Order: sequence, then C-alpha cells, then structure tokens
Amino acid sequence: MAIWRPYTPHYPDMPQAIPIRRAQGAYIYTTDGRALWDATCAWWVCVHGHCHPYIAQAIAQQAHQLDHVLFADFTHEPAEKLADRLSRLTGLSWVFFSDDGSTAVEVALKIAIQYFHNKGEKRHRILALEGAYHGDTFGAMSASARSLFTQPFTELLFEVEWLPFPEPFDEAVWAPRLAALAARRDIAAFIAEPLLQGVAGMRTYTPQAWDAIVRAVRAAGALVIADEVFTGFGRTGRLLATDHCTEKPDLLCLSKGLTGGFLPLGVTLVREEVFQVFFTPAVEKALYHGHSYTGNPIACAAALANLELWEKPETWARLALLEEAQRALAQSWQSRYPSIPVRHLGIVLAIELPAAVKGYFAPHRVALKRYGLERGVFFRPLGQVAYILPVLASTPEELAYAVSVIENYLAEGAASI
Ligand SMILES: Cc1ncc(COP(=O)(O)O)c(C=O)c1O
Repeated sequence: MAIWRPYTPHYPDMPQAIPIRRAQGAYIYTTDGRALWDATCAWWVCVHGHCHPYIAQAIAQQAHQLDHVLFADFTHEPAEKLADRLSRLTGLSWVFFSDDGSTAVEVALKIAIQYFHNKGEKRHRILALEGAYHGDTFGAMSASARSLFTQPFTELLFEVEWLPFPEPFDEAVWAPRLAALAARRDIAAFIAEPLLQGVAGMRTYTPQAWDAIVRAVRAAGALVIADEVFTGFGRTGRLLATDHCTEKPDLLCLSKGLTGGFLPLGVTLVREEVFQVFFTPAVEKALYHGHSYTGNPIACAAALANLELWEKPETWARLALLEEAQRALAQSWQSRYPSIPVRHLGIVLAIELPAAVKGYFAPHRVALKRYGLERGVFFRPLGQVAYILPVLASTPEELAYAVSVIENYLAEGAASI
C-alpha cells in the first residue's frame, strides 16, 4: 500500500479505504456493487450532484480548447468571465485565484497583513472565532482552533486572538467586549466562517451576531475576512452565508462548492479599496503569491458552469425543497427527542449524539460510519455530531431515511458510547 491518506492514522490492521467505481447524483457506487447515499457531499464539495452532466460537459469542452497557461503573463476567457461573475455576485471587485480552501484563506491573510504593511501601519494581529477551522496550511492553521491536528506545530503557529463563539449572542455580555474591540488599533483582520462553523460541529450563530462583530472590527479600522469555503453555494439556504447578513466582508474566500465539486479551485475576492493599496508600480508593494495551477481554465470552466446552474429556477426550487425537508426533520426530531439537540441551517442538519466521550475522536465517529455503511448511507460524523449535508439531487425521502438510520443507531444502544 503506497497511498498516505488524509486525516488517517496508519497502522497494520487499519480499516481500508473503500474502492469506488463511479458516482451519480446523490450516490457513490462501490466496486463490489453497493450504492451509498453520501451524507457528506464528498467532504462538502459536491453541490448539484455527482457527475452533473452540465458541468461534466463544460469541463470536457474546455479540456479540448485550453488546458493551462502561466497566469502571470497570460489570461483567458474562463478566468475573465468567472472573475466578472463573482465580482458582480459579491460586489468585491478583485479576484485572486488559488487552488483550494486553505490557499484561499492563506491569500486572504497575506493580503490583509500586507495591506497594512503597504500603508506603513504596524498591524499584525489576527482575530478569529473560538472553534474556527480555516484549513491546514500554516497561516490557515494559525487562525484555526488549536487541536490535536495542530499540536505538533504549536510553536510555529502565529498568535491569534480568539473571540468567544457568539451563540447565544447576549447583547449585554457582548456590548462591552465589542466596545473594547472597536477601540483597538493593532488588529489587521478578523476572519470567520459566517453563520456556520463546519468542522467545529456544524455550530450556528445569527446574522445579528455577525453584523455586530463586523461593525466593531470596522470601527477598529481592521479588515473583515469571510471564509465561505464551506458555507458558499447554497449550504445555508442562500448562495452565500453573508447574503443573510447586512455587513459584508472586505475579503471573501471561496472554494469547495465553487466548481460544483468537480475540481480544486480557490478564490479570494477583494474589495476595491483594499486592492488600491497594492495598485502601484512600486515592486515592494506587489503581492508575491501564486501557484502553478493559478487560474486553471478547466477549473474555471467548471465554476462557470456551476454558476450557470445557480441561475436556473430549478436549482433554487431544489434548494428550497431540501431546506424545508431538513427543517421538518429537525422539528420532528426535537419534539420526539427533546434531550438530543438538533441544529438546522439551510440544507445542513446536525444532531448532537449523546456521548460519554466528546470531541473529534468520539467513538461515534467510527461507529456511526460503520453502522451507516451497512445500511447504504455514508456518514462521517464530526466526533459526536452526526450531520446530513445533501447534494441538491437528493430527495426528502432520502434525507428522512438518513435520519432514520441515526435514530435506529441510537435506539440499538449506541447512545451509551
Ligand atoms: C471553513 C473552511 N475553510 C477552509 C477549509 C480548507 O479547505 P481545503 O480543505 O480545500 O483546503 C475548510 C475545509 O474544510 C473549511 O471548512
């Protein structure tokens, strides 16, 4: 065996990866003939459904036309069109391409720090939310909650200040905290996953809390980075989580669902005023960041096809259908099991399983996965948090089935582990 797998302890009798032959819609098909309903959207990337023909076709066409060019000296229509569409969608006028969620965040942090450096202001402090996850590169790790994942690197991570997770958002508690924040002059940027922290266990907070924090950060003269790597592309019921909010970010990171789940691509969108500080022939003020595959035309073509699907009323109808189904399932669960908390935002549903051991390595992670696989559903719980994040090709019946598998898992005695 020569493949070193992500987030996986390796040892002689470790569980083996399941060979997959193909995927279609909401299902992945194993080489031994099983169909698995994917409750994880392939690590939160797949949006409309696996192998969606419209995106597959756009990729095939682009692959025959232009595979890749060096993006510092050349440009091409897929990148130009995509940048234009994303700018119009977000009101952020500059688009920096990278490869994935971590690099989109890395670029945002570097831009924020260099913005103040270029202006000759001494500001290096980054502010983030407790429980945050922004990726696995060093900057992204630094801005993420410290955990077993980051432990070997602790001494090398830069210091970050943590704001408490703003739920519940008690105005009386937060008012002095936000007033102190607004008076600060050393903060470069605040970074957060708006409204929904994914890796932390699908934790939600309100647009009011986001707006209040962002206003204080702005008063402190700092930049606001929205990490919508996970929340983008319909997960919260709107195209972007910040679409629910009044206060918009200065920098916005997108990846995962950007190509509909077909190809890796990251973008960092930047407000005009921020870009202006880099808009000079002075070589020391340029952003020296890039990747070999920056602006890859095939990935851009996939992202354009994804955005075109979001222009179709059918896409929004499917989103509304699944959002409603998740809401009904959450309500029904809560009325039947008042002591087992359920969270719901957009098409994300998360159940906090009763657990003797909590945290990312809670035994439910392995046990519910195994139980689900035997019943045709692929779960990958975040510790004791079981979640269901469907692709839009899913049906309300499939969501109900997935919830029933969790229910039976608990009923069969798993509640005690
Ligand atoms: C909010 C958020 N930001 C960044 C990342 C990192 O993205 P990637 O795994 O593509 O590097 C993730 C991944 O889960 C994420 O959830």
